[in-house]
Amino acid sequence: MGRIKTPGDVPAGWSVISMDTVDSTNTVAMELGEKDAPHGTVVLADRQTKGRGRLGREWVSPTGNIYMSILLRPTVTPADAALLTITAAVACVRALREATGLQVEIKWPNDLMVSGKKLGGILTEMKSRGPRVFFAVVGIGINLNSRAADFSPELSATATSLRVETGEKIPKTALISRILSEIRFWYDELTQGDRDRILDEWRRLSSTLGRDVRITSVNETFEGVAETLDKEGRLIVRLSSGIRKVVSAGDVAMVR
Ligand code: BTN
Repeated sequence: MGRIKTPGDVPAGWSVISMDTVDSTNTVAMELGEKDAPHGTVVLADRQTKGRGRLGREWVSPTGNIYMSILLRPTVTPADAALLTITAAVACVRALREATGLQVEIKWPNDLMVSGKKLGGILTEMKSRGPRVFFAVVGIGINLNSRAADFSPELSATATSLRVETGEKIPKTALISRILSEIRFWYDELTQGDRDRILDEWRRLSSTLGRDVRITSVNETFEGVAETLDKEGRLIVRLSSGIRKVVSAGDVAMVR
């Protein structure tokens, strides 16, 4: 395993394991979760050989970007676990806006977007024990220093990086610290504070709400207006018939 960084650039009580190459930081953090590693263990890697995205997709993971997974042992039910992703998305967008001044936004459920292109994403996985979450792993991938030419032709139509957007090379360590400190703040808000504040912050930072969207889920595709986010982190879409649909998984495309 890699270096354990001293506290100072990580929230109090949390620790960072930093590695060069891994298959997936989420896989490593899930294994650590099974081995009773403590809450707040952060796995960081320079590159991943089998980075995973949502819905079984690959997450292309060359050197230079952020790949990190946070092991959490939250006192929430599995039904509430979607809120971990919502919490992480709020934390990442706030940290990225503060660090770069870019108008980074959240596309439901967990895409970090800038100028209509994807900058990063979040993959939350968990293990339950009885009615509770035994542990959860929040995996965050952010395209930091990839250049336009580094993206495949297929990806360059839909993906971007902080370097492409700002024209500057972004220092990684300071940004990671900022993201972790935001995550710690909003995680405490989720578990001990005011959940409505997180949901309101998500709504404020989202590019999805109020837009005409096309939803593609496992079973169906439909269009409507993305009205709001409910208390469980699900998207409420109003169809032209007036019927409201509750969406808990799927892809969103803006149609107009
Ligand atoms: C998505 O938008 O599809 C989610 C992408 C999540 C990627 C990150 S990179 C760090 C962590 N390890 C993984 O294998 N996936 C997540």
